[in-house]
Amino acid sequence: MTKDCVNTRPTAEEQVAILQQQLAHAQKLTALGELASTTTHEFNNVLMTIINYAKMGMRHKDDATRDKSFQKILAAGERAAKITNAVLGVARNRSDSFEPTDLRGIINESLVLLERELRKYRISVESQLASVPPANAIGNQIQQILLNLLINARQAMPDGGQVLIKLEYDSANDMIDLTVRDTGSGIPPDKLRRIFDPFFSTKKGPDTSGKGGTGLGLSACRNIIETHRGRIRVESKVGVGTAFTIKLPTYKKPTVTAPTVRSSSASAASHQPDAA
Ligand SMILES: Nc1ncnc2c1ncn2[C@@H]1O[C@H](COP(=O)(O)OP(=O)(O)OP(=O)(O)O)[C@@H](O)[C@H]1O
Ligand SMILES: [Mg+2]
Repeated sequence: MTKDCVNTRPTAEEQVAILQQQLAHAQKLTALGELASTTTHEFNNVLMTIINYAKMGMRHKDDATRDKSFQKILAAGERAAKITNAVLGVARNRSDSFEPTDLRGIINESLVLLERELRKYRISVESQLASVPPANAIGNQIQQILLNLLINARQAMPDGGQVLIKLEYDSANDMIDLTVRDTGSGIPPDKLRRIFDPFFSTKKGPDTSGKGGTGLGLSACRNIIETHRGRIRVESKVGVGTAFTIKLPTYKKPTVTAPTVRSSSASAASHQPDAA
């Protein structure tokens, strides 16, 4: 008796879809890993400050030293609260829905997370944040892009440098432009073509802060920008620096249409929603 032979091997297209899913998963895990390592480092620094000033206040009982210790402990505690808020911001936004998004808030939250790390590598940050309309975006994903771009910028400046973050409204296209510019190594033209490819990296694995080297950062940025119907552009000059600009659509209130009254004879086929 012959058995029916069912071909269960995935087709080439199915294999591509599976690999794309795995890639998206790897990109998410890398982003979470970077966020966890950034937060842990920052938190540890805050705790060290609190512990050291508490010890100082206990050792020196004069009012002046105790006042100073309490002030430092209070400031460190407030910073700890900001850090958890910045992380909770990511968690709160974890729904995959687009909503009116305040990009300034996201930039400031991302800077809270990286402030100390950037200072440690002697990188100064300048923000030029114009007041812009809300973007139509998934805030959590935009924060992921920003962290990726800022960490890349930091890694391109091993001897220190400057980062400029700019937020502008492009009225001609009704889009919001977010630029991250650094004064780092720059990217030679032969590499520039490949930087958005998954797994393309010129780094030799994680650096002293435990970051970098998988080559998934910019490919994730590009995927996110595509889902946002935005654009990402890069300009770079070796020895001068690099600027990434992302363009995001502004949020549009959904237009309210008057409810349609269906007659009972209307066929279902004539009421199919428009394909997006
Ligand atoms: N601001 C920058 N200045 C110079 N080179 C950059 C910059 N941003 C990206 N690159 C180059 O593009 C490559 C790809 O960047 P990408 O963020 O995708 O991966 P990665 O940083 O190497 O690893 P990770 O997955 O940890 O982000 C980098 O290895 C680096 O060569
Ligand atoms: Mg990177």
